[in-house]
Amino acid sequence: NVDHKLEPTSIQHSDVKAQEEVVTYEVNKQVAVIRMGSKPVNAVSSHLKSSIEEKVSEANKDTNVKAIVLMSAIPGFFIAGADITEFKPKTKTEDPTTRLPSRLEGSTKPIVAAIDGFCLGGGLETAMGCTARVATPNSRLGLPELNLGIIPGWGGTQRLPRLIGVKKAMELMLTMKPISGKEAHDLKLVDQLCESNQLLSTAIQLALSIDMSKNIKSLHRQDRLESKAELEQIFAHLEKMVDPRQPQQRQALNAVKAGVTRGGDEGLVAEEEESFNVHKPTAKALQHLFFAERATSKIPNVPAYNKKINSVGVIGGGTMGGGIAIACLENGIKVTLKEVNQKFLDAGLERIKNTFKSKLERKRINQKQFDAALNNLTGTISYEGFQTLDCVIEAVLEIVDLKKSVFKDLSKHCNKECILGTNTSTIDIESIASDLDCRDRIIGLHFFSPANVMPLLEIIRTSHTSNEIIAAGLQLSKQLRKTPVVVKNCVGFAVNRIFFPYGGAAGFLVDRGVHPYRIDKALKNFGFGVGPFRMSDIVGLDVGVMTSNSMKGAYSDRAYDGQLKQIMVDQKRLGDKVGRGYYIKGKPDEEGIADLIKASQNRANNPKPLKNQNEFTDADIQEILLLPVVNEACRVVQENLVYRVSDLDVASVMGMNFPRFRGGIVAWADVFLGAKKTFEKLDRLYQETGMEMFKPCEYLKKCADNNKSLESGL
Ligand code: CAA
Repeated sequence: NVDHKLEPTSIQHSDVKAQEEVVTYEVNKQVAVIRMGSKPVNAVSSHLKSSIEEKVSEANKDTNVKAIVLMSAIPGFFIAGADITEFKPKTKTEDPTTRLPSRLEGSTKPIVAAIDGFCLGGGLETAMGCTARVATPNSRLGLPELNLGIIPGWGGTQRLPRLIGVKKAMELMLTMKPISGKEAHDLKLVDQLCESNQLLSTAIQLALSIDMSKNIKSLHRQDRLESKAELEQIFAHLEKMVDPRQPQQRQALNAVKAGVTRGGDEGLVAEEEESFNVHKPTAKALQHLFFAERATSKIPNVPAYNKKINSVGVIGGGTMGGGIAIACLENGIKVTLKEVNQKFLDAGLERIKNTFKSKLERKRINQKQFDAALNNLTGTISYEGFQTLDCVIEAVLEIVDLKKSVFKDLSKHCNKECILGTNTSTIDIESIASDLDCRDRIIGLHFFSPANVMPLLEIIRTSHTSNEIIAAGLQLSKQLRKTPVVVKNCVGFAVNRIFFPYGGAAGFLVDRGVHPYRIDKALKNFGFGVGPFRMSDIVGLDVGVMTSNSMKGAYSDRAYDGQLKQIMVDQKRLGDKVGRGYYIKGKPDEEGIADLIKASQNRANNPKPLKNQNEFTDADIQEILLLPVVNEACRVVQENLVYRVSDLDVASVMGMNFPRFRGGIVAWADVFLGAKKTFEKLDRLYQETGMEMFKPCEYLKKCADNNKSLESGL
């Protein structure tokens, strides 16, 4: 009963499609050189595939040609994979020998793949179908298909194990991370390494040296597979490694196993069957996210920003300010850290330096990077030098008047083009900016803690923020290698706003008799790294209370404060920073917490349990916590606060660690439940409990009534 109503995101692929796919053919020293030039990334569309096949066939017929080189005309990209925009659900299995790599492997003349840049998915599979491979040391080779919910379906599960062994091949597939050309050469996946300017000549030389009568196809190699005994061990280990929630992992393993035991040709057939049976909702969710992540920076009417941000002032050297400074320094941006007095400044600078020292010790960075980062860091207790900064981000205490006075100072001390950012998470940015003449340059730049680690940057625009400053914010996110989500000003912005009912619903369940550890387990099983109570310990219960108070102020009708949280705070069990919260030093405290739970239920006047504690399934708990979040996300859409619905999927995955294989908060509801079922489930919870957080909002109701997906934006 899965509803597959998820519609394509609003991203325009027309520019990918509109590019003419150019495959050129020339003969150089009796070698046919076939160059692929399908912008932007040489994704293999059906058209590019047939163009390559045509040229290979031409070369095979051309009596002047002894060998073939396949390379790219696009700098930085060999092939980024199959064209994802052409993916559609298969209605039947296909003949795997018609795939491009098998076609290339059938060539009577040797083909050398000359790789310089990204060589991913179907790109690497194509290269493995060639007779040999030459690559530049910094090329990136990998099979990231599992990240799209599918398996390498062009022979990757067969040829890669036969070229580098099962252990390494499965590692590449499961981690989805590309390796460098140099590493690929060490693994013998690549036959020869050379620099970019030598690529063609090296490939030609290699191609001419290959004797096809002695060549063994990648698909039939045996010499690099592990021994039978080793394989048994490897497979036993992999059986335990694959995540049952991500069926594509098991399917890739099945295909590899089939090939190793039954031979490459039968392996290809098994791979096709596994490909056909991939779990479609997971694939849909992950492919949706791929495009959603690339769409967030596309904001209408925002001009191109052609400058680089070279210098950032950070006001406040606490946890957030320090993290922001580190993020900038790690990406080559000069930082001026400002504090109110020398003591605080020294402490702030020390924390930043210690972070880099620890990175150096753990070999995450080298000495050169360490020196460069610290040379780019200066501290100050005045506004001296602020006149030349490109951007300033304030991260002072969450006190409105304090923030106002900081921005008043900044309006005097910064130049007229400086981006004036606030990292507030709870204060109305409109009110900070209201009476300043620089209000068009004031923007929310909301980092997530730890700011140098979390990949999301919320960019908040007030009614005054100019498009140029939005462009500058997008540029900053690019330089910091973060994914931006642009949100119009509202309390909680995107992530805190849509997730505020999550904690409320968890508290609500505890008051009705469900154990917090049971709730944490259900959410972990869903795919979150930690459940809501463990998360609360990590963040700090006092911080959680402050955030939820500001949410309560704005959205009181749907707020719910579990009694347990208050009891914990009263008992000074504030979480990891004091060693005691819902857990003690991260470990369950069954005994200690039992009395507190009882007390909380008493305080809540022992409301009628929804059902017996043992009757709650994981799915019940997950839905009670997450459906109100979907509902709030729909409200954000209803209020027109984001540019596209899928931005909230990206925000949930990157800001809250919502499991990416579920596609993001709205996509999850759409793909795995459907709008109608989401509406019905929420409505039933609302009828049963009378709690406003479950009352389906207008937008959700409209989607359900009109049989539209929640991503449709209506
Ligand atoms: N198909 C279609 N479009 C693709 C694409 C693909 N495989 N890879 C990238 N694009 C598009 C992007 O959507 C983007 O389009 P817009 O400009 O319209 O947003 C454009 O190409 C540029 O991509 P990025 O913005 O991601 O550029 P980047 O330089 O930051 O990253 C990259 C380049 C690392 C190659 C990244 O694009 C990427 O990871 N691509 C996907 C790689 C992948 O998953 N390959 C496997 C595909 S599935 C497959 O091959 C199945 C199989 O087994 C045969």
